[in-house]
Amino acid sequence: MPKKKKIFISVIGMGYVGLPLANQLSKHFKTIGYDINKNKILKLKKGLDETGELKKISKKLKLTSKFEDLIKTNIFIVCLPTPVNKHKKPDLKILKNSLSKISKIFKQDDTLIIESTFYPGATEILVNKYLGKKFNRLNFGYSPERINPGDKINTISKITKVISANNNKTLSLMRTIYGSINNNKIFSAKNIKVAEAAKLIENVQRDLNIGLINELTKIFSILNISIHDVLEASSTKWNFLKFKPGLVGGHCIGIDPYYLKFICDKINFKPNVFMSARNTNESMISYYSEKILKYLDQKYKILYLGVAFKENTGDLRNSKYFDLFKNLSKSYSVDYYDPLIKDAKFKNDYVTISRKKPYDVVILAVPHNKIVKFLRNNIRSILKKGGIFIDLNNNFKNINKNSYNYITL
Ligand SMILES: NC(=O)c1ccc[n+]([C@@H]2O[C@H](COP(=O)([O-])OP(=O)(O)OC[C@H]3O[C@@H](n4cnc5c(N)ncnc54)[C@H](O)[C@@H]3O)[C@@H](O)[C@H]2O)c1
Repeated sequence: MPKKKKIFISVIGMGYVGLPLANQLSKHFKTIGYDINKNKILKLKKGLDETGELKKISKKLKLTSKFEDLIKTNIFIVCLPTPVNKHKKPDLKILKNSLSKISKIFKQDDTLIIESTFYPGATEILVNKYLGKKFNRLNFGYSPERINPGDKINTISKITKVISANNNKTLSLMRTIYGSINNNKIFSAKNIKVAEAAKLIENVQRDLNIGLINELTKIFSILNISIHDVLEASSTKWNFLKFKPGLVGGHCIGIDPYYLKFICDKINFKPNVFMSARNTNESMISYYSEKILKYLDQKYKILYLGVAFKENTGDLRNSKYFDLFKNLSKSYSVDYYDPLIKDAKFKNDYVTISRKKPYDVVILAVPHNKIVKFLRNNIRSILKKGGIFIDLNNNFKNINKNSYNYITL
């Protein structure tokens, strides 16, 4: 194991996972953050983090979009996207390309750590495929990431980190590295497959629980019962799990079950439980679309609030709330507003919206704190008296119902 002073880390992929990690590591070790996206690196160098995850980028963190700059590093931590393709199968292209590049500069005693989410067995297969031919002895590990975009409480330095490696030396090195950024809150998994599986099921479990609530939402809707009223009552029981209905998007909960499904297919196991929840969650866009469309009319001015994949993040990837907006826009002209989306294509600002004539319908899709605050202060000016307020998740249940037609789904 290199002495602490000799540790030189490269973090590959400066996204939601890699950037906060590299930032923290740079406070303890020589660290360089690499991303293929030159523009992103330029902005990060100016202190601009578009993910909104960091308060401040450490001056000690070196940033680069030149792969050659990683040559002198001896620990490579890969934080690259692992999406699914249009057939909902794991798409490992980005990762494979990167491993192929790393193999060209990797040295015998270097260490490779993967953080990207996988199915059990993937790390070993890929590492052996891309590095195994060159070296007869390799040091590699897997440490899944748990950060939750938009969550300012469970941040990287506060959460327990699961680590796993192919030998004790690497495990011990990983304990030193990760332990230094989170006060040694480390759990060593029995092996790499266990760590990969542990990460997957954290998200599969959430998907399953939300799927159940979504199914109950549909059942109770037919029975003319509000799921929100039911949940409020049930939540008074000490061990009731507080999941809410909604659209499951993003790059974790809505993706990881497909990685588990992929490995199930490989071993000829037909899953009955988690894929039912997954399919139910996929079906919720049409459920919400149908419900909302009943209230719309061609002559209405309509405002849709929140298009990110979940509240308090500006992340649009695989956002089902954005898909819902696009669905509604096929039949109606709908304005939208999301103060957290930084993408220039999504120009919108609430000042313009506030100055427009009041809307007939306001749809609250993603209740970012900023949107909720904006609505509390501006609902009178943006929604006509007697207008329709469609609140997907019952956030404004105490609103003055004499002034608006309040609908929750
Ligand atoms: N975002 C989360 O909340 C979260 C949580 C836990 C685990 N994960 C997992 O972590 C992994 C990374 O996710 P993320 O959310 O940070 O992704 P991201 O899309 O936010 O970031 C990935 C970064 O990698 C860069 N990149 C793409 N190809 C590259 C290449 N060839 N070389 C260098 N950089 C490249 C992109 O420009 C981007 O900045 C995924 O496997 C994801 O499932 C994500």
